[in-house]
This record gives sequence, structure tokens and C-alpha cells, in this order.
Amino acid sequence: MMKVSSRLAAIQGSVTLAIDAKAKAMKAAGIDVIGFGAGEPDFNTPAHICQAAKDALDQGKTRYTPAAGEPALRKAICSKLLRDNGLSYTPDQIVVNNGAKHSLFNAFQALLEPGDEVLVPSPYWVSYPELIKMAGGIPVAVMGDPENGFKTTALQFRNAITPKTRAIVLNSPNNPNGYVYTRGELEQIAQLLEDFDLYCVSDEIYEFLVYEGAEHISIASISPQAKERTIVINGMSKAYAMTGWRIGYTASPTNVAKAMTAFQSHSTSNVNSIAQYAAIAALSGPDLELRSMVAEFAKRRECVCKLIEETPGLSCIKPMGAFYVMMNVSSLFGKGIDGRVIDGSTAFTELLLEHAKVAVVPGIGFGADAFVRLSYAVSMETLQEGFRRIRSFVERLA
Ligand SMILES: Cc1ncc(COP(=O)(O)O)c(C=O)c1O
Repeated sequence: MMKVSSRLAAIQGSVTLAIDAKAKAMKAAGIDVIGFGAGEPDFNTPAHICQAAKDALDQGKTRYTPAAGEPALRKAICSKLLRDNGLSYTPDQIVVNNGAKHSLFNAFQALLEPGDEVLVPSPYWVSYPELIKMAGGIPVAVMGDPENGFKTTALQFRNAITPKTRAIVLNSPNNPNGYVYTRGELEQIAQLLEDFDLYCVSDEIYEFLVYEGAEHISIASISPQAKERTIVINGMSKAYAMTGWRIGYTASPTNVAKAMTAFQSHSTSNVNSIAQYAAIAALSGPDLELRSMVAEFAKRRECVCKLIEETPGLSCIKPMGAFYVMMNVSSLFGKGIDGRVIDGSTAFTELLLEHAKVAVVPGIGFGADAFVRLSYAVSMETLQEGFRRIRSFVERLA
């Protein structure tokens, strides 16, 4: 067997994508699976965005673009950052990437020297540690307190800082925990950046998905010093139901943007030109669909939290943003079915899929084995049916 490099052998595949693939394979085999695993809106890309892509095709916008992205798109991103986040950037500070995941990949490549530590609020989105390792860095999980909705505080970050710490990851609104940092909390974290000469990689991909008056604030808008130390990560996937189009972007100090552009010019070159024109329409067009999507997520959030609390043995932390909920299943540990005992989130997930045909994501991949993550980017009917199955599964455990 051919050996792969130790660099690649150290990287784990995405647990969420693996679960999603398994559920999709079962569906393809004709099995009626309810999928709570996916991290994508169940809505279609709004029509005016699709139309812009069709127009771009008809107009022959099918050639290479500058590696950092079409100038018109980078301008539209600057307008968006000013309008929505109060951030003033120039187009040469923007780099358009193949999804926000690629933006994060480039950001860590730009910032890290081998052995540099990066603080990652935990439970975390599964890709952060692997993306950091790919850049030679060392991810350091900083566990939030479940009592505090898993929100990692500035003090917890402070206590994890060592002379090797180079950067802090922020992800607000958060996947998988759904918390949203307040201005006061961001001010404290911004102070740490200054005091300890750190960078911040601020993943704001869920910025519009906030509920009950929660407000998304970019740490880069806290002070000019914070902005100088931050790479803002954002993209089209979640807000515009454009997961398949693969458009993300970074906003950063000019020298970092320049380095990332050179790096990208040798790896992926530019992002798909048609998708870039669709993104311009998304950022500059009406936001009616976005607002109705958020209103629908807000209803589902209420519904899923109620369904969890009504199921004996289950509880949850009510999320303030994104479209995920962390469901605590630890009171079922020690119980079992068909001779198999639930000894953690992986066994719970496997048995639930096998016996109830419901797919969730085990918390162990996020660093929280007492929990499983459910995505509520599914219809109300799917939520109701999923929980009917979960309830009867839980009742069968002995
Ligand atoms: C926290 C977070 N950041 C980034 C991404 C990646 O988004 P994209 O589809 O734009 O690569 C995701 C997708 O699940 C996410 O949950």
C-alpha cells in the first residue's frame, strides 16, 4: 500500500460530512432517514442570484478572474462590510475564496509558524483544529462552560495563553453552540489581542442568523487595534443558501491580503467566475429571502428546543444564533438496546441511526461527548417526525 505523508496522515476527515454521507447513502438505498446532520440551509438559492449567474454565463463571463476575485465583487464585499458591520476596507484587503472553509485555510497559512498555538473555543466546529494543523500550528481547545451556553470567556482565553500563542479563533454566532458574543465580551477579548500581541481569526459566517434580539458584532469593529489584528472570515453559504456555489472571503490588513493572494494564485487561482457574479447579486440585491429564512429558522428553533425538553432524558442549551442545537444525551449513558450500551455520543448516534433512522452528529467531534448536535435547517414536519422517532427510540432504551 502506498504511504501518505505524515502531514496528511495527521489530518482527520470531517465527522459531520461523514455522518451526512452515511445518511445520504441510506436515503439513496431507499431507507427513510431523517437527517439532522447537515450544516446547510434547506432553502434554494434566491431566484435573483441564480439569474445573475445565468446572465454572467450569457455574457461570456467565463474566463479567469484576478486571483483575489473580480474587482466588482471585492467592491461589493467592501460595501457590505461597511453597511452591515461598520467596517471600512478597501478592495485590496479582500480575497475571495472557495468557501469560508478555504478562507480559514488561507488565514491559518498566512499567520502561523510551525509550533504556534491557536486558541480554539470549544466545543468547536470540527474543521478548525485540522485547518490549524495543516498550517503547522497546534490547536489548543479552550472549553466553555455548559452553564454559560459553552461560551468561552476572555478569562478562559487569558488562562490558556502561553508564549507560543499566536492567534485566537472566534466564531460568533457559534457552530455548534449557538452563542453570540456581546460587545462587552468582545471588548475584553480585543484587549487580550493587544496585551499579548495576538491575531484573531473571526469566523462570521452565521452573522445574520441571530434570534431574540441577539446582535452580531464583528470584533474588528471594536477598535482600530482589533481590526489591525483580525482576519474577518465570511461567505455566501449560510446567509444566501449558497453552500454549493463555494464563495467565501477574507477581510484583513493589506499585507496579509497580499500574501494570501499570492498563495492562492498558486493553489486554486480564482474562484469560479460565474459564482462570483452570483455573489455580487446576493450582496447588493434585496434581502427579502434572507429575512424570511431567518424568521423561519427562529420558529424552528423554538420548536426544536420544546421538542427536546419534552423528551424524557434529553435537554438542551437554547441557541442564540446559527441553526444548530446541542442536545445533552448524557443521562442516557449506561442504557442500551439489543445488547449494545450507550457509552458516549458516538454510540448514541450510531444506535439512533440504526434503530430510529435519524442522523445527528456526535459531540465527540466537537470536544463535547455528553452532547449530540442537531441542525434545525429542516422543515417543521421533518422536525416533528424526527422527534417522534427519537422519543420512541429513547423509550425503548433499557
Ligand atoms: C463555523 C463555520 N465556518 C465555516 C464554514 C464553512 O462554510 P463554507 O461552506 O463557506 O466553506 C462552516 C460550514 O459549515 C461553519 O459551520
